[in-house]
Amino acid sequence: MDFASSNINKYNEINNLVSAKKNTIKIAFKKMELKEIQSDNLLEVAKDKVLQAFKINQKEIFVEDDGLFIEALNDFPGVYSSYINKTIGNIGILDLLGNKVNRKASFKSIIAFYDGHKIKSFTGEIKGNIPFDLTKGGWGFDPIFVPKNSQLSFGQMDLITKNKISHRRVALDKFLEWYLNQRRK
Ligand code: IMP
Repeated sequence: MDFASSNINKYNEINNLVSAKKNTIKIAFKKMELKEIQSDNLLEVAKDKVLQAFKINQKEIFVEDDGLFIEALNDFPGVYSSYINKTIGNIGILDLLGNKVNRKASFKSIIAFYDGHKIKSFTGEIKGNIPFDLTKGGWGFDPIFVPKNSQLSFGQMDLITKNKISHRRVALDKFLEWYLNQRRK
C-alpha cells in the first residue's frame, strides 16, 4: 500500500507501527508535495490531498494530515499548523502563549484513503499541554507537545514510546483494522 507525503518522519512512524503488527501489509513511501486547500476543516484538507495523490499514483493510496489545536489560542494553529510551523515555528507559538496558565492542546490526525471508488477517513487525537520552555528532539511540534500523563514531550520520547500513544497511532489503528478486514472479505 502506498503512503503519500512530503514528510519522511510521518512515514517512519507509520512504517514502524505497521511492521510491528501480525499479518500486516507493506507500506511504500511516495514522496509528493501536495497542495493544501484553504479550509478550516482538517478532514476536507485530507480528502482533497488523497484525491491529488491518487491522480498521480493511479492506485490505492493514503495520506495523513495533522493539526495542533491550542485551547488558549482558540484552537490555533489547527488547520494552519504546517504554515505556522514553517513561519513562526515553535518559539513563535511559545511567544504567543506567553505566561498563559491554560496550556491545554490537542494533536489531531486524519488519515484519508482512496482506491478510486470511495474515500474513507479515520481520526486520531491525543490531548496534552504546551510546556513553558522549548524541549529538544523530534520534529515539527514535538518539542512543544507534552502528552497528558507524561513527563516527557514528544521530542524527548523515542519513536517506540511516541508511537504507543500518538494521534497518528490512533488513526492508523482504525485504518488498518478497516483495511485488513476489507481484504479478508
Ligand atoms: P501536516 O499539514 O499534516 O503536514 O502537519 C501539520 C504540521 O504539524 C506540520 O508542521 C507537521 O510538521 C506538524 N506535525 C504533524 N504531526 C506531527 C507530530 O507527530 N509531531 C510533531 N509535529 C507534527
